[in-house]
Amino acid sequence: MSLAAALRTATAYAFATARRGFGKRRPCDKLAAGLLIGTLCALGASSNAVAASPLNVRIGFVSPLSGEYADYGRDLENGVQLALDEANAQNLKIGEQTAHFELVPIDDRSDPRLGVQAAATLANQGVNAVVGHFNSGSAIPASRIYESAGIPMISPAATNPVITSQGFANTFMVIANDAQNAGVAGAWAVDVMKAKRVAIIDDRTAFGQGEADVFERAVREHGGNVVAREFAESIASDFGPQLARIKAADADLLYFGGLAHQGAALVKQMKARSMNAQFVGGGGVANTDFTHDAGAAAEGAMAWEYGRPLAQLPDGPRFEQAYKSRFGANVLAYAPFGYDAAWAAIHAMVNAKSAQPEVYRSALKALAFDGVTGRIAFEPDGSLKNGASTLWQVKKGVWVPVTTRGG
Ligand code: ALA
Repeated sequence: MSLAAALRTATAYAFATARRGFGKRRPCDKLAAGLLIGTLCALGASSNAVAASPLNVRIGFVSPLSGEYADYGRDLENGVQLALDEANAQNLKIGEQTAHFELVPIDDRSDPRLGVQAAATLANQGVNAVVGHFNSGSAIPASRIYESAGIPMISPAATNPVITSQGFANTFMVIANDAQNAGVAGAWAVDVMKAKRVAIIDDRTAFGQGEADVFERAVREHGGNVVAREFAESIASDFGPQLARIKAADADLLYFGGLAHQGAALVKQMKARSMNAQFVGGGGVANTDFTHDAGAAAEGAMAWEYGRPLAQLPDGPRFEQAYKSRFGANVLAYAPFGYDAAWAAIHAMVNAKSAQPEVYRSALKALAFDGVTGRIAFEPDGSLKNGASTLWQVKKGVWVPVTTRGG
């Protein structure tokens, strides 16, 4: 597919998903598809010019850097920046040239339409690789643009399995996907937690709805009983009608597909309604945004998060310390995956002695290295081999690991 055709398809998808409820409903950002197509047509056959020594390697990065999910985006960006800083300090050679890695960040505000626009901009600029996007709703249509441009996109946080199931050669994921994470959650709810009456609510994004669908399927496959399936928009803050129905259905477990701020609002509103159902979040909930927002209502909440606890990984404590020293804050969520995604690109370029995607892509596919989050190696479709999921629970105001599955 040509780049212009890919842009048309991706833009149509982004608009369609935004209409359906995937992604944030915002006023149209005046995406000028015609203008973008014109810009893309200016792309030459080779989008990666080999610079004189040192070699400047541009790593595109797309994530929400403003708006409700900016905390996640900045955390992720910090992880990527840390990797690039370390690589630059090591004066790594790509072939004969000393490489200088440069971050090219774009804010998509979690909007699929802006995600497509960002991908088109990065394709136009001929970046050497992309780490991103944060939201699945943005990453799925953007992946089509990168595929047409031949630029590897490495997802450090967007976890919908569709991302790597499209048969693309340029799509990679260094984090476990939601087939794994929500599948384990559903099985665990029935087999171990012995939930008898399961309720589900999601945020209607490609991510939240996707993981809720996987969870529901797993619950049913394990013989569980789903008594309520609800949803709210990802900008909703009042869950009164949904919780009233869930309470009336007498649910003993509520699974939430969505991110921390909404998860926190949910547990507060459950407590206000004296609901005793066990709250279980999917990915993106077990972090300090949740405990901060929910306060006392957070106590006892559970959530399944991708990967192993950082503190239990050989390089985890060093990473946490380096992050804190560099940015004056603690890791929030996906910074370690951003760091590993950036290093995956760097290692592949060094191994292939080239920063040209058409040369280093095969090295990326064949890569195997120990990252901060564990072993990084890819399945043929670009998904992470042996992804793990950890169940966390809030105890005395702090998320504590309960068990890890997979990996
Ligand atoms: N894992 C979340 C998503 O895929 C952030 O959108």
